[in-house]
Amino acid sequence: MDIDVLTLFPRIFEGPLEESILKRAQESGRVQVRVHNLRDYTHDKHRVVDDRPYGGGPGMLMKPEPIFEAVEKLQRNDSCVVLMTPQGAPFTQARAQAFAKKPHVIIICGHYEGVDERVRQALVHEEVSIGDYVLTNGALAAAVVVDAVVRLLPGVLGHEDGAADDSFATGLLEGPQYTRPPEFRGMRVPEVLLSGDHGAVARWRAEQAESRTKQRRPDLLK
Ligand code: ADE
Repeated sequence: MDIDVLTLFPRIFEGPLEESILKRAQESGRVQVRVHNLRDYTHDKHRVVDDRPYGGGPGMLMKPEPIFEAVEKLQRNDSCVVLMTPQGAPFTQARAQAFAKKPHVIIICGHYEGVDERVRQALVHEEVSIGDYVLTNGALAAAVVVDAVVRLLPGVLGHEDGAADDSFATGLLEGPQYTRPPEFRGMRVPEVLLSGDHGAVARWRAEQAESRTKQRRPDLLK
């Protein structure tokens, strides 16, 4: 999979890519992530990327020209162009799975008060929000999306079905998990997990996932 990220702040986006699973996924060639500074797509002396909104009002908007130039340079027949914005559709596990099937995703990170509407009109296929709050910068949101997508790509998590029983992939939250020691500060691991009875373990996990979901996220059960 190829991912191109367009941002005014490449370093905000790059940190998470340089560690752990995302780093190995790139090194092994399962994903190629390229980060582009939108200022490199300006042609004036001061490399201006923003301007005041027509009609007045506070704040600045991202100008259309650098974004159009960057997208038109990078775009292929099979590209999906995504805009990170609090006005977008909620980013969910289902949307992460859909993105993970695309050969090429271009992510535009908003900044300032937003982007010129013509970017939406002419370039963008999907608008995505990572939650009902406003960040200073879409690059943080893009890092969240890239992380959630890349871990779903084949071979990225060592164990092939690592992502299959994630919270949300099953429609339920994951239940409690334990590792050694069997007793720690008076707290014992539930007996069933030590029993070696795989059927009983599977039933217990299913019950736990169900009750945890009912308690914490009843909206997921509807
Ligand atoms: N940019 C600013 N806030 C955002 C959010 N919640 N999701 C996606 N992009 C954003």
